[in-house]
This record gives sequence, structure tokens and C-alpha cells, in this order.
Amino acid sequence: MNILIVGGGGREHAITATLARSRKDPSLYAVMSKKNPGIVRLCEDFLLEKETNVEKVVEFAVRSNIQIAVIGPEAPLAAGLADALEDAGISVAGPRKTVAEIEFNKAWARNFMKENKIEGCPGFKVFTEREPMEAFIEKLGDVAIKPAGLTGGKGVKVMGDQLPDLDAAKEYAAGLLAGDSVVVEENLKGEEFTLQAFVDGEHLAFMPTVQDHKRAFESDLGPNTGGMGSYNAPGEILPFLVEDDVIQAKKIMKDTVAALRKVTGIGYKGVLYGQFMITAKGPRVVEFNARFGDPEAMNVLPLLETDYVDVLSAIVTGSLDRLDVRFSGKATVCKYAVPAGYPDNPTRDREVVVGDIGEALLFYSSVYEKDNRVYTTGSRAVAVVGIADSIAGAEVIAQKALENITGDLHSRRDIGTSDLIQKRIDHMKEIRGY
Ligand code: AMP
Ligand code: GLY
Repeated sequence: MNILIVGGGGREHAITATLARSRKDPSLYAVMSKKNPGIVRLCEDFLLEKETNVEKVVEFAVRSNIQIAVIGPEAPLAAGLADALEDAGISVAGPRKTVAEIEFNKAWARNFMKENKIEGCPGFKVFTEREPMEAFIEKLGDVAIKPAGLTGGKGVKVMGDQLPDLDAAKEYAAGLLAGDSVVVEENLKGEEFTLQAFVDGEHLAFMPTVQDHKRAFESDLGPNTGGMGSYNAPGEILPFLVEDDVIQAKKIMKDTVAALRKVTGIGYKGVLYGQFMITAKGPRVVEFNARFGDPEAMNVLPLLETDYVDVLSAIVTGSLDRLDVRFSGKATVCKYAVPAGYPDNPTRDREVVVGDIGEALLFYSSVYEKDNRVYTTGSRAVAVVGIADSIAGAEVIAQKALENITGDLHSRRDIGTSDLIQKRIDHMKEIRGY
């Protein structure tokens, strides 16, 4: 079987590596905007091209006799790549544009949840005018402000975080109105977690829950990033969650997939990513994404025991309910090494030297290869993943590996450490009041 992977980051390296260990021995092809050395080594052929150049990607897929395409990032989904590939007769493990809207139109996503009575939707309203928006901000008193469109998570500002007070919230929201409609929602308090599922249009196969770390610096300080690292616990439930939290989150995702099909007539295929806040009142949806998380894909895919080619085939044929999708039950810790100064003022074009990383897995992200050397681009560079029976064991493996990766790089030592995890547990005890 010929399989195409679209995207060239750490997430797509993990997707490619998981396909490369399939017993079905597929031939792998890739489209990426920069030459990811990890992906290139696992592929028969690749195209260096913008992933959103739909015409060029389809042409390459047809020429390479692709049977199934996997789309990693959100931008090609928003550009309608899944639609164009399917229309060219290629099966796609990735949602069509109409249903991928759940990620790239936050206003649509919230209205959809409300209209379909999906649980876990925070109080919100969508605005195009300043006066009623300011009145609503006053009424809620503590808010998160989001531009409706796709901003890579960068446009969201939350009170108590990036917005010091109500006036700052109003000013920021008013500024956004010039370019987009604005979603104002209740500021959710708690701990965030990620729940991802394979979806075949109807059925969902869930992956273990993961926690990402968005802040650039240790102790959750500094600006938000694409994610500095992430971990999962043995089994499927993070240490600060209880079983019922995950049961509720799963129901929210199942109801969302069913409602998407009912409302649009299109079955959602691919990976659905739920970003949840576990609050005193249970899980609330921060957002949905129409793809794997990056870094979260690097936690769960190495644990996948079911053959990934079988999973992809089940997704495109609508038969996930007949496949036993299993994960090994181990803990993982993933840590990114990013360029110094990332995300605000990153250094670029600096060499990254990977030494002995022991038992850890290595995934290349936004780097490029030249004359057999690897260089940074200004975005997250390489990730390491430790796998063990405990989070602490996985952390040691990841941290040791990071210490043998040299360059003008920065990473977060605290991700996956017992101290930080205890803080999450204590925080949730305080929020729940028990
Ligand atoms: P998003 O792009 O929607 O993932 O937002 C980026 C980050 O903003 C999330 O990961 C949360 O940490 C935070 N955030 C978004 N919406 C809310 C909300 N309603 N309440 C509190 N924090 C939020
Ligand atoms: N790790 C967050 C995301 O992929 O959106």
C-alpha cells in the first residue's frame, strides 16, 4: 500500500515512524514545506512544497499511486486538501473542510455545540459590534477573548493571564473586531488535558489522555507556545483526573461526531482532538482540533499496539468498531528542544547536534537538513520521548536524551517531574474542594 503523509513537523515524523513499523510494510510518501530529516529517511519519495498548495499535493499523490493520505496539520484541512484528494479518488484519514470547521472557526464551533446541546460548552457569545460585546464582557466579569478564525492558538487572550483586567479585555476585543468576529467566553478555571480519538465518520477509538505545557518557561511562566512538551500516565487517565472526567469527555466527543454527521451530512474522518479544562463542574471544551496535537501525537503513537495501517484502513472504510485499537498502557514524557528566544525572538539557522539519546525516541520538527547537518528554523526544533512504566521513569529517559542534544537551544526541565505533577494534583484538589 502507498501512503502519503502531509506535513513536516514532529507530529508528522511520529505518524511516519508509526507507519514505518507496520507489519503491512507500506511504501511511504511525504509532502512537506521543509526537508524534515526524520521523515525523509523513512520515505520512498517526497515533495518539498507548501502543504496548502492543494493542486500540487493532489498531483503528487496521484502520480505516486497513493491509496490513503494522512493529513497532519490544520492549514491544509482548512484549504480543502481532504476534499480535493477524495475527489481525486484517494482515501483520506482527515476531515473534509465542512467538518474540519470545528477547528478553524471558533464561532461556528461554539454555536454548533450550543445548537446541538453538546455538554461542556462554556458560556459564550459571538460579536461583530463593540457595544453589546462590552456589555457581555462586563456581565461575565472574567473572560477569554478569541478571534473566530484560525490563528494557531496565538490570538486567544485570557483574563488573569495575558489580560490584566476588564478594561484590557475590552480593548483587546475591540481591536480584534476590525479583522474578524470575536468570541467572548467564560474564563474556565482548572487543569487542561487533551483527549484524542481516531474517528471513521461514526465510531471513535480513544487514545490515552495527555497533558501539554504551553508556556515557554519552567513553572508555567512566559509566553504561550505551540507546546513545549507533554506526558501521559500509565493506563489512560492523567494523575489529576478521575475516571468519570474521562467518561464525560468521551461522551462529549462522541456526541460531537454524531452531531457533525447529522448537521452536515458528512462523516468526520481522521483524528478528533478535544482540548478540555477539568473544572469544579466537570470537563469543559476549550477547543476542538481536527488533527493530532503536536506534541501529543508523539506521546500516544509510540504506544499504539494495533497496526497503524489497519487503523487508517478502518478510518477510511468506516469500520473502526470492528478493530481492537490498543495502546501499550505505558507512561511517556515528551520534551521539545526549541531555539533560544523562542517563541518571541528565536535564533535561526543554528546547528543541532544529536548525540547519544539512549532509549529515548527522537522526532525532528521544524529543522532542515543541509550537507548532512541539521539546522533550526526559529520554531520548535526536535523532541525526545521517554517511555517507561511510570511518568518519573519516562522523564529521566527524556531528560537524559535532551542533555545530549546540543545547539543554541532551550527546553523545560520540569515537564513530567514529580514536583510539577504534584502541583497539578494539588491544584485540582483545591478546585474540586476535596
Ligand atoms: P485555544 O487556541 O482555544 O486552544 O486557546 C489557547 C489557550 O487559551 C488554551 O489552551 C487555554 O489555556 C486558554 N483558553 C482558551 N479558552 C479558554 C477559556 N474559555 N477559559 C480559560 N482559558 C482558555
Ligand atoms: N499541542 C496543541 C496543539 O497541537 O494544538
